Amino acid sequence: MSRYAHSKKLFERASRAVAGGVNSQWRAQQPPHPLFFTRGAGSRLWDADDNEYVDWALGEGTMVLGHSPAGVIERIIEAICGGQLYGGQHEAEVLLAEKLCKLIPCAEVTRLALSGSEAVHLALRLARAAKRRPRFIRFEGHYHGWMDGEAVSVNPTPDQHGPRENPMPVPWSDGQRASALAECVVLPWNDLDLARRTVERLQDDIAAVITEPVMGHNGCVMPEQGFLEGLRRTCDTHNVLLIFDECLTGFRLSAGGAQQHFGVTPDLAVFGGAMGNGFPISALAGRRKLMDLVATGACAHAGTANAGCASVTSALATIEKLEADHGAVFKQLADRAKHLMEGLRRAAQAARVPVLLQGPGPMFHLGFTSQLRVRDYRDTTRYDRARYVRFCRAMLDHGVRLLPRGVWFVSAAHTEEDIQKTVAAAEVSLKTL
Ligand SMILES: Cc1ncc(COP(=O)(O)O)c(C=O)c1O
Repeated sequence: MSRYAHSKKLFERASRAVAGGVNSQWRAQQPPHPLFFTRGAGSRLWDADDNEYVDWALGEGTMVLGHSPAGVIERIIEAICGGQLYGGQHEAEVLLAEKLCKLIPCAEVTRLALSGSEAVHLALRLARAAKRRPRFIRFEGHYHGWMDGEAVSVNPTPDQHGPRENPMPVPWSDGQRASALAECVVLPWNDLDLARRTVERLQDDIAAVITEPVMGHNGCVMPEQGFLEGLRRTCDTHNVLLIFDECLTGFRLSAGGAQQHFGVTPDLAVFGGAMGNGFPISALAGRRKLMDLVATGACAHAGTANAGCASVTSALATIEKLEADHGAVFKQLADRAKHLMEGLRRAAQAARVPVLLQGPGPMFHLGFTSQLRVRDYRDTTRYDRARYVRFCRAMLDHGVRLLPRGVWFVSAAHTEEDIQKTVAAAEVSLKTL
């Protein structure tokens, strides 16, 4: 019997009642087929066949404390025993907002939503409302959620790219509004000179530049020296807003996000993912003068389930743990990631497989390539992705769960033992490719 027989059966059953058998498009890509899980604790997950995994996927990076963290779960249970959603205000949401304002450099005022996609959507609506200009600049290969206006040029194929200096806006989905494409100006990342020239040329049309501060979704590419600072200066010069999408970097690189880590403060920033350690919550944070448009309702924002008791309590408890001991956990994440990356590099050298490992640490990317440097999305398309998918499958067979797109997330629950087990699995898996 296959090691994944129960999962396979459940997936077949799911495929009859759930479109594609999954409830998020990203989950469809897991080889040999999407797995079904029954339990998560710390760094480990168990599937429906009772296979145990060291989990480096972490709910697409959200589980920064690991699965079912002690001290968080109890607080959530206590909170929801007293009510789940009031459709009115409660003190915990104020405590959370005050905490976000204390920790995040750009946060003078915040608004909560449920998902990163929603909060990005609000950020761009607010930018258009504030500047009264229709368009925004985004970067090829960055992911800002699945909605029409933002899901453009997420992972275009080389035949769709268009010229490097003026990439084609490529829709992510059939049915996307054509007007959404016209609102986006797409640029390659890490090219400050081109960004500067484009903002200058289109300044009367452009409300904002939105960027992931680390190109996390594709390749975990770091910003080049001076790139984020240069974007900041360019936006200031041309009266354009700078938005950081910190759904991956927030509460992962530092308690104040990438903006604190790199020392560059945007006008608006979006947080999600790790903020709620697995519960649906996101936040838009920004300068008071801008957020006043949300405060007055001139820039409308709503959501029936916003600031639910479970999500807010999870975020509060998670952030308190991350803040403890002056944020010691962020050093632990970086140190563990460093050991893991070193171990994987050694394993690849021993197997004579050319790899590139890069990223800020608490999240990083492993890809099969001989390139020494990957700077933007087009470089990432030269990774041997089919080989990586085979690697993921082999690692799964050895009890290690990875994301097929190559990004690894480290949690506070990962141990040196997890690293050793993973490196040992990689040593064997790499040789089978
Ligand atoms: C950088 C970034 N922005 C936005 C999103 C969308 O967030 P959500 O999936 O919560 O809608 C994601 C999700 O992975 C993301 O990584």
